[in-house]
Amino acid sequence: MSSVTYVEPAESEPEIALIGGDVTEGVVRVGNTVRRPVGFNAPLVHALLRHLEAVGFAGAPRFLGIDAAGREVLTFITGEVAGRPRPAWIADEARLASVGRLVRAYDDAVAGFVLPAGVRPASGLVEQPDMPPAPPYPAELVGHMDFTPDNIVFQDGKAAALIDFDLAKPASRVDEVYNAMLHWAPLGDPVDAAPLLQDVDVPRRCRILADAYEMPDTDRSRLVEVAVLRSRRAWFSMKQIAEEQGGGWARMWQEGIGDQIKRREAWLERNGAAIETALTAP
Ligand SMILES: Nc1ncnc2c1ncn2[C@@H]1O[C@H](COP(=O)(O)OP(=O)(O)O)[C@@H](O)[C@H]1O
Ligand SMILES: [Mg+2]
Repeated sequence: MSSVTYVEPAESEPEIALIGGDVTEGVVRVGNTVRRPVGFNAPLVHALLRHLEAVGFAGAPRFLGIDAAGREVLTFITGEVAGRPRPAWIADEARLASVGRLVRAYDDAVAGFVLPAGVRPASGLVEQPDMPPAPPYPAELVGHMDFTPDNIVFQDGKAAALIDFDLAKPASRVDEVYNAMLHWAPLGDPVDAAPLLQDVDVPRRCRILADAYEMPDTDRSRLVEVAVLRSRRAWFSMKQIAEEQGGGWARMWQEGIGDQIKRREAWLERNGAAIETALTAP
């Protein structure tokens, strides 16, 4: 299914390297398209992007096929992506709210997506015996689950599109909002945050995201529990992916993402109550 061949336009265009992601080598722009190596989760991602196109969801690239070099071809979405160092607007609360609305719009658009027969999420992850338990809440949809500032395109100061669906997998809506908070509140020890996000009011920013998502009360009361359990598991899963996939994942592990996750766990112990209060206050 994902083997549809992309037909190049008559006029050839130069390849321009796209940087910003942590993981995928060789992402380039060619004219109005992006070329990416086909990742381990490609069958799911291609079916997912087709679903989003079919339901008319504007906040994702279209999947156009596979080029002669075997790369996936996606539409290029114009706009701003944060990049590093983070831009001055990274802590802006109006942008933050727009992220919450985009995540909600995506979750609603994907809610009717059913994995095609034979397509399985490929996280590359195998459950390990010493891994802490997952949150006890069932998956509700195929989540994006990677709302980093490098994976959101802004237009006119608002989050307009999600890119990089490599980590898409069945998830609950709380998992999705947790992931958005992780990167945008952000959740974690301030020493690990971008300078402009080190002194922000994190519980307040969590509330802004939850309100923009229109998160129901039950989910608000589950958020901190999910954050703690997902963080505990993240240490194990990041280690395993680094060992099995190598590349950018191994580099992140060597650069200390494991220690960063441990600092996040400790920070959540200290700040979880304040976040829960902010989320559930009338
Ligand atoms: N469809 C797209 N439209 C616009 N920019 C894109 C698109 N795909 C990728 N990019 C840009 O390229 C960067 C890296 O691509 P991404 O798919 O996120 O790879 P990685 O797996 O390395 O994170 C993004 O952060 C973004 O700036
Ligand atoms: Mg990315």
